[in-house]
Amino acid sequence: MNEYDSDKIRSLLGMELTNDPKKADVVIINTCAIREKADQKAFSSLGRLKHLKFRKPNMILGVGGCVAQLYGERLLENFPHLDIVFGTRTITLLPELISRVEREKRRMVETSFDVEEVFEFEPYHEEGKVTAFVSVQQGCNKMCSYCIVPLVRGQETNRSVEDILRETQKLVQKGVSEITLIGQTVNSWKMGGYKFGDLLKIMAEIEGLFRIRFTTSYPRDVTKKLIDAIREVPKVCHHIHLPVQSGSNRILTKMGRTYTREWYIDILKRIRDAIPDMAITTDIIVGFPGETEEDFNDTMRLLKEVEFDGTFSFKFSPRPGTPAVEFIDIVYDEIASRRLMELQAFQSEITVKKNQSRVGQIEEVLIEGESKNDPSWVTGRTSHNRVVNFLGMIDIRGKLERVIITEGFQNSLRGRLLENNLEVSHVS
Ligand code: 5AD
Repeated sequence: MNEYDSDKIRSLLGMELTNDPKKADVVIINTCAIREKADQKAFSSLGRLKHLKFRKPNMILGVGGCVAQLYGERLLENFPHLDIVFGTRTITLLPELISRVEREKRRMVETSFDVEEVFEFEPYHEEGKVTAFVSVQQGCNKMCSYCIVPLVRGQETNRSVEDILRETQKLVQKGVSEITLIGQTVNSWKMGGYKFGDLLKIMAEIEGLFRIRFTTSYPRDVTKKLIDAIREVPKVCHHIHLPVQSGSNRILTKMGRTYTREWYIDILKRIRDAIPDMAITTDIIVGFPGETEEDFNDTMRLLKEVEFDGTFSFKFSPRPGTPAVEFIDIVYDEIASRRLMELQAFQSEITVKKNQSRVGQIEEVLIEGESKNDPSWVTGRTSHNRVVNFLGMIDIRGKLERVIITEGFQNSLRGRLLENNLEVSHVS
């Protein structure tokens, strides 16, 4: 979501890009507030730019996104060298804010939620990139006790089918073959009479689009219609990111997650019964207030039972304005760290095992380009969102190719390109 917003900022400003703040006329820091560490990152980036602003007083320094939304005016007080604070729904006002700073020689804050058109501007797209995000939703209506998103991104606002299609079509014309639909709870999207499963089917009609992904899904909004759409529409990838957060019913209740462990396991069973090769990944929070060793073991047992293809796991971080910040039965950091390490080590074994189980299989891989580390390697992803690297010299970027898997690692697979059912190896 942040990446998408940053690309929107780039496209709105229409300026030449530089990675070197010393060369920039305008420096914009886009921020995330999901955990405390993200806040700190924003503050230290701002702090680092103090000297530069002192030397280049005409340089305009702005901060946007969730941290800006959260602290607003207070950022101007704490960072005297800051010119602009804009929020999550006021990105489109940024060019106007910049010219007002230049004209009126004063600092500006604009963090209202009342801005009508949050989807109006389409993001910058790097030439040659074959994958892209399309936002279908802003904000969130769930009430998870730990989460700052509803506070900083507002209530759920869904985008119209026409807008989503228009943006996707433009991207496909630019050579994009894979679209990831994004929203905080993407599968709760609805518009007019349409539900998310319908949207997937409508998207699949777009010619030239090969693959559709979506993230992040909310467990309670996984419907039969959605499962059917994933099964029936070949362009929809077989991967769902479905955060469970905890395997303990006591903790799930305190988190306000609206499902039980048993309910979650049942929905996974329904998904897997319908789509046996579905890859399932999740998010876990450890050290939530009141989490006992027994609660944590419930989470570990869930991981063992379910065997996720991957997990993102975090230590609980108290966020201002959320209900959980008031919970006093805190878990000591040492304990939370130990639990996080244990969980990650355990999941690693499962991930490696699952990746190795692909060896010998033929996978359809969308070729994204050269591998970052070595240009003689080509990289792409499977429908299950696994990264595959193979030796190759031909430019087949944007194409779906068949690759036989030869090795499985922690974060990727290695394979060999198949051509017309014959194996050929491209060795440089
Ligand atoms: N502390 C730790 N992790 C959090 N997440 C959201 N809020 C918090 C918090 N206060 C995690 C959840 C969510 C992911 C995006 O970030 O696991 O799914």
